[in-house]
Amino acid sequence: MKVRLKLNGVETAGDVEPRTSLGDFIREHERLTGTHLGCEHGVCGACTVLIDGRPMRSCLMLAVSADGRDVRTVEGYEGDPVMAAIRRFFKECHALQCGFCTPGMLATAYDIANRLPRADRARIRMELSGNLCRCTGYLGIIDAIEKSLDYIHGADRQTRKEAS
Ligand code: FES
Ligand code: FES
Repeated sequence: MKVRLKLNGVETAGDVEPRTSLGDFIREHERLTGTHLGCEHGVCGACTVLIDGRPMRSCLMLAVSADGRDVRTVEGYEGDPVMAAIRRFFKECHALQCGFCTPGMLATAYDIANRLPRADRARIRMELSGNLCRCTGYLGIIDAIEKSLDYIHGADRQTRKEAS
């Protein structure tokens, strides 16, 4: 079956089996191996990518279901200042060890940064509940996202209480 979608801003097409997942399409057909496949059952969140701007599990979606959609993987943030800040604080806060969960964590963090500028630590934890990490204990990840929000939305976060 033919699938056509926008992948990291580039119109892309390929022939796939009806059962091919979007995650496999991204990795095997497009050779974008930054998207990691862990459980392949919708549990771990490692495969999370943005689809039409929302974080979704690429292991659970069929490639043909992504036809006509806008897909963004971890390779697709060149020049994006929000992701640049998130990456900087992931590094500074030691928010990764083996890195297997990190592409999915970054997609979720990017969504939090854009959708929930006033999120507090409890809300960040809740938003991250679909992304599992075996290594870090999560504190570094939560620190990194909180610092990213402070940096990106500084004045707004200082003057207004969490309401989201
Ligand atoms: S690989 Fe998709 S949720 Fe685990
Ligand atoms: S850094 Fe290893 S699983 Fe998260």
